[in-house]
Amino acid sequence: MGNYRSLILGCGPRAHWHAEVYPELEGMELVACVDLDEERLETFAGKFCVPMAFNDYETALAEAKPDIVHIVTQPSNRVWEAQVTADAGVRAAIIEKPIAIVPSEILGLQQVRDESGMEMMVNCQRRYFPQFRDGTIRRVMNEEIGDVYLIRASAKGNLMSMGPHMMDLLLQLLDEAEPEQVWAMAYGIDEEGYKAHHRAPEHTFAEYWFPGGIRVLFDCDTEALGSPGEESFWMHQHFDILGSKGRIYVTQNAGWWYQTEGMAEPVHGRARPSTRSPARCSRCTRAAGSTCRIRSQMRNGMSNVKD
Ligand SMILES: NC(=O)c1ccc[n+]([C@@H]2O[C@H](COP(=O)([O-])OP(=O)(O)OC[C@H]3O[C@@H](n4cnc5c(N)ncnc54)[C@H](O)[C@@H]3O)[C@@H](O)[C@H]2O)c1
Repeated sequence: MGNYRSLILGCGPRAHWHAEVYPELEGMELVACVDLDEERLETFAGKFCVPMAFNDYETALAEAKPDIVHIVTQPSNRVWEAQVTADAGVRAAIIEKPIAIVPSEILGLQQVRDESGMEMMVNCQRRYFPQFRDGTIRRVMNEEIGDVYLIRASAKGNLMSMGPHMMDLLLQLLDEAEPEQVWAMAYGIDEEGYKAHHRAPEHTFAEYWFPGGIRVLFDCDTEALGSPGEESFWMHQHFDILGSKGRIYVTQNAGWWYQTEGMAEPVHGRARPSTRSPARCSRCTRAAGSTCRIRSQMRNGMSNVKD
């Protein structure tokens, strides 16, 4: 039994990644899931041993009474989702990136937060990858390469797909500094598939001015050059950080290195995020992936699926 009850709204592919970590979380219990799609809902509830499954979000909030909600839907209805979540007395919402598509939605979310006090977090999980999380790159950046004057940030994927990840990592590298100026050029639109809900220019190139005279060239483009040698489209993401005494090259998936004046060879950092062993369900202790024993029993007569 956890101290906090949580609920996941949306049982699409992304939500599986949210649920998988639950067996390892102390003090949190996943008590309910919600999806309009019955098949997705049943598959998800079965796979992750979620005791309550609903088709209707407001009913789910009223009956499951969660403390924490994960909003893992397409980013087309975020203000309504946040409002009904806050109205139900939820204390915190973890919202998948992108948190919003247009500025008025950010203002709407801000208003919900100000009026309700509900915390909202956007899920940009890449900052928790070991090479970014452990602070070594930021230490090298702050202490070993002199004054940083230029960062080239590059990712494939448009502003609403890879853009939130790249900006989040950039701000982490810059100790959450806020830019002072920006100019940008952007063109092209693709509204096929998931991009119908992630409306953004396909091609964006921007230059940011950060405090301390740091310039950032921000290349976020489905046709960006990307990281040389990277084969997966979604893993093209890297940063070149130039300082007055050295430089750092950071990739998402193929490690990082730095070299300062006087060093004959670059120093290499850790290459990849660590892998986790498959999680086990805390309710029926079977390895994740197979159908939950307890959920199967529910389906044989005591299903909690509700409209
Ligand atoms: N952080 C990352 O690296 C990462 C990776 C992939 C996707 N994402 C983001 O995660 C989000 C979800 O992605 P996905 O691929 O799982 O989307 P998806 O559209 O496949 O799944 C979303 C699910 O939510 C359900 N849903 C939406 N509104 C609902 C409502 N009001 N009531 C009940 N069910 C509702 C839909 O029926 C659907 O099954 C998107 O914002 C996407 O950008 C983030």
